[in-house]
Amino acid sequence: MAKISAATPYRILLSRPPTSHLTRRLASASARHSFSTSPRRLQPSNVGNVGLAEKDTIIGDQAPEPLTIEGIKARRAKAGKLVAPTASYSDSDMFKSPQSYDKPKARRWDHLLSQESLSREPCVLKQAAKYLKKPGLISLGGGLPSASNFPIDSLSMRVPTPPHFAEAEVASTGQDVRIGKYDVRDGRNGGVYDLAIALNYGQSVGAAQLLRWVTEHTELVHGPPPYADWRCALTVGSTGALEQALRMLCDRARGDAVLTEEYTFSTALETAAPLGVRVFGVPTDGEGLRADGLDEVLATWDEKERGGARRPRVLYTVPSGQNPTGATQGAQRRRDIYEVCSRHDVFILEDEPYYFLQMQPYGGGGASNVVPPPETPEAFLRSLIPSLLSMDTDGRVLRMDSFSKVVVPGSRLGWITASEQVVERYIRHAEVASQGPSGISQVLLYKLVDEAWGHEGYLRWLMHLRLEYTRRRDAILAACERYLPRDLVSWVPPAAGMFLWLQVDHTQHPQASAKSILEIEDDIFASCIDKGVLAIRGSWFRAEQDVAPSGLFFRTTFAAASEDDMARAIERFGAAVRESFGR
Ligand SMILES: Cc1ncc(COP(=O)(O)O)c(C=O)c1O
Repeated sequence: MAKISAATPYRILLSRPPTSHLTRRLASASARHSFSTSPRRLQPSNVGNVGLAEKDTIIGDQAPEPLTIEGIKARRAKAGKLVAPTASYSDSDMFKSPQSYDKPKARRWDHLLSQESLSREPCVLKQAAKYLKKPGLISLGGGLPSASNFPIDSLSMRVPTPPHFAEAEVASTGQDVRIGKYDVRDGRNGGVYDLAIALNYGQSVGAAQLLRWVTEHTELVHGPPPYADWRCALTVGSTGALEQALRMLCDRARGDAVLTEEYTFSTALETAAPLGVRVFGVPTDGEGLRADGLDEVLATWDEKERGGARRPRVLYTVPSGQNPTGATQGAQRRRDIYEVCSRHDVFILEDEPYYFLQMQPYGGGGASNVVPPPETPEAFLRSLIPSLLSMDTDGRVLRMDSFSKVVVPGSRLGWITASEQVVERYIRHAEVASQGPSGISQVLLYKLVDEAWGHEGYLRWLMHLRLEYTRRRDAILAACERYLPRDLVSWVPPAAGMFLWLQVDHTQHPQASAKSILEIEDDIFASCIDKGVLAIRGSWFRAEQDVAPSGLFFRTTFAAASEDDMARAIERFGAAVRESFGR
């Protein structure tokens, strides 16, 4: 294997000095195997047995600033083929542009880490994989089965060829992607990632092949993040990533609490509750979480009034197409939220499964012809609202991305981006929990987004989804304008995501003084079911379940039903509201 960058190949990442006997052993092994390097080259840490086959070079050197699709292609061509055999340890630093290293490092978050997270040690068996790079070494080490005993010889899938993404076109214009067991050894089917690697154990950070794509994609989209030591790690989707993040940053014993939108993703609430982490709501408006509301909540926090909960040091937010409200924070709103969080030293969990489902601006009357859609991947990237990650000079954001809403949820695959310290703690947890995402998912996604589509093809896929969701959103809004009593039901046209949040003016209900909001909600919900439509009760998403709701809401989605069915469903919802209000 060719020598890779002169980095510290065996660096073990620790958020605190080694304490245990085991950690000391690993740290001294690390010191013995470190290369001596120039200061510039010290930064990227190419750990483990991952390398570049054909040329002895450093990947980052060829990156233009900012990174472009063409820049990635040129960089990869110059770098040569990626060599990342079974259980290789890799790291985003291998794949980042060098300009990242000229920036200051992220702040340290030791004061936030929970006792549980602080007590995690590296998994010794995973760390042992680094010795596999020694030439001639015969491994009697890891309990990795031989690929010769894997009963799957090959897989193939037919996928669209960009830009022909319509389902009906795939039969004629699609491409067949084949994955064999020994493609790397035999130089077949791209020869970078095969079933012998993917079906075996891997590292918790994810396979180098997909991690490279994810790191490049993150840099293309976010700019890169404005601090030096940002990294990505693959996840088993954002649900699991959030659970790990909460356990990393919140400690029940410290009375830790989390802030979030007044109405939030119900699974996030169900994740926090059993951890003993209390969740408190922040007021929202049509643009989602209000920065001034956040400031006020933090500035006036009273532990006693809040049942002993400490002033929250973590914000969980869904900035684009928020679940359930569908609200999207504009660029200035995001900057304001980031500023408030910096001022109050609050860490941000940016959960963005809907980021790439930003749609065309709505023009009314079921149409969105206000501005033409982006025609090129570059224009598409420019059209996206800047992320919190892209503003994160401190390294106070842990961003969660997911393939669920934009490729397939059954992949159970996503990734986080955060500072080296935070990602390292995350990986330590993953090592003893899921061990990282499924190899089968990783190889399928890699073959699709990297080899079959490439960055440009993937962005064109997202551009296709943008128009699909715009069309669906426009259809449900047209139905609302047609069938809902406008004096009773109101909504903000969503700019991203898959949810439309309908507010029903409960104050006009004939029994408003006798019935609670929850009772009226119950009546309308039951009537909806009777009439044949499921709309989700808004109260299920309240951040503070013990506080009376301020309004009456229903969440609807335009993600799946046909346009005709959506129209029928909204008509039924309107009838249920009218019936409840005696109209
Ligand atoms: C805000 C939010 N986060 C996370 C998820 C789940 O993501 P994943 O499938 O990656 O676990 C959802 C799915 O509904 C969601 O709405």
